[in-house]
Parts: sequence; structure tokens; C-alpha cells
Amino acid sequence: MVNLKPAHLLFQYLNLMQFDIHKALMHTKLKHLSSSIKGRWLDIGAGDQPYKQYFANASEYLTTNTKRHYSTAGFELLEKQTTYWIEDGKTLPVSDNSLDGVACFQVLSVIDEPADFFHEISRVLRPGGKLILTSDFLYPVWSSEDRFRHTAFNLKQLAEANGFTVTASESFGGFGSTTYALFMRFMRSFPEIWRCKKIIAKIVSALMYLLLLMLLPILSLLGLAIFVLEKNSITNTDFTFNILLTAEKK
Ligand SMILES: C[S@@+](CC[C@H](N)C(=O)[O-])C[C@H]1O[C@@H](n2cnc3c(N)ncnc32)[C@H](O)[C@@H]1O
Repeated sequence: MVNLKPAHLLFQYLNLMQFDIHKALMHTKLKHLSSSIKGRWLDIGAGDQPYKQYFANASEYLTTNTKRHYSTAGFELLEKQTTYWIEDGKTLPVSDNSLDGVACFQVLSVIDEPADFFHEISRVLRPGGKLILTSDFLYPVWSSEDRFRHTAFNLKQLAEANGFTVTASESFGGFGSTTYALFMRFMRSFPEIWRCKKIIAKIVSALMYLLLLMLLPILSLLGLAIFVLEKNSITNTDFTFNILLTAEKK
């Protein structure tokens, strides 16, 4: 049955029209890293495995997910795809020194004890094992459990304090990429409209939002242009919506 509810139609439109700069930059970065992804890897908080293709050379691709973050709809497929169900990232059901690599994309900000998390990742990696991690930086809260924003310096500190040598810490593009990512996030949540108390302010915000919706195809083209210009910008870690950390266990 076709779902014609306004909210559903709006999200369909946003999905169709938006250029997803976060995914595009993730793919660019992982393309560069994929040749180093070999052996037995664990993807912590893999979700529905949007980056599985980059683990094609790994002998094993293991994943974790947390049950409480998924509704029953579409759960069957995720159940088949997930190797380990964990409710707390601080205890991984994997033995010491048994992995060649750990990937962890967009999970760290919800982990309540980041130092314990890094310690646990270090425990399961063999010496020389690799860590590839991304974490939101200049980006709005996205879950009721979202707790932290880590600077590049803090990510480095957490890694080094837990037996890693940091090999890279990269921004996701520059100012343009961050501005566009925040704009798209606003379009998906449009909080202003709901927060306005006065009816006139609500109407003006709704009209502004409608105008932006109409301009979305053009703004998405702008997002694509920003991506092309900034996809190799990696040094802007003070002004980025996301940070990539790569490290090796000593
Ligand atoms: C935003 S999703 C990221 C999914 C995927 N890695 C991606 O980049 O698209 C966050 C993931 O973190 C996992 N997660 C949430 N809280 C967690 C916790 N306390 N410990 C471990 N994993 C957690 C969830 O299962 C979910 O898959």
C-alpha cells in the first residue's frame, strides 16, 4: 500500500532530492583505506552495513548492533546481518588479540565511558591491528543517548592512552561541507517551526521552510559542488562536522 501521509511524503522528497555529503565523504575516505582492510575485522555499531563493500578483502566481517535502537519493522534482515548483539560497547564478546581490525562509524558519541571503549577495542586487537573510527564533531544531537563531541586532540589522546599509535586524524572537507551538512540536518528536522510559540512566527518559519524545500534541488547541486571542491580537504579538524581517526595498536 502506498503511504501518502504528509510526513512520509516529505521524507521521501528529502531522500530523493538531498545530496548526502556525509555518505559521499565516507565513501571517499574508505576507498583510500580499503586496501589496508585485511584479515578479521569487527564493525562496531554497523547498523545495516552501509560500508560493507570496503571490507571485501577481509577474511571475516563481523558486526555488532544494539537491539534497543531498532524498531521491529525491518528488524529481520538486520538480525540476519548482525554477528553480535551488544547493549553496551564497553564489553565486546571477542577474545584478546583476536582481530586484525576494528571499524566504528558514528557510535563513539553515544558511548558513556569513551576511555573504557578504547581500552576494550585495544584488548581485542592484535599488536599491529588497525582501528578506523569516525565520530561527529560540529553536529547536532541525533539520539537521546548522544553524549559527547570529541575534538581531534581528544580522539588522539584516547587512542594513545590505550596503546595506539595514531596514523591519521582527518576532517570531513572544510567549512562548506560542514555548513551544507548542518543545512541538510536542519531540513530533516526543521526544529524552528515546532519551537516557535507565536502562531505568526510559526507561519513565517513554515513559509521559509517551504521555500527552502522548493530550492532543495539547486541547493543539493551546490552540496555536490562543495563535495567536489572539498573532498580532499582533511586538515580542517577544528571546523568539521565529523572526524576520522586511524590508529594502530602498538
Ligand atoms: C548512527 S548508527 C551508525 C550505523 C553505521 N555505523 C553507520 O555509520 O551508518 C549508531 C550505531 O551505534 C550502535 N550503538 C548505539 N549505542 C551503542 C552502545 N552503547 N554500544 C555499542 N553500540 C551502540 C547502534 O546499534 C547503531 O548501529
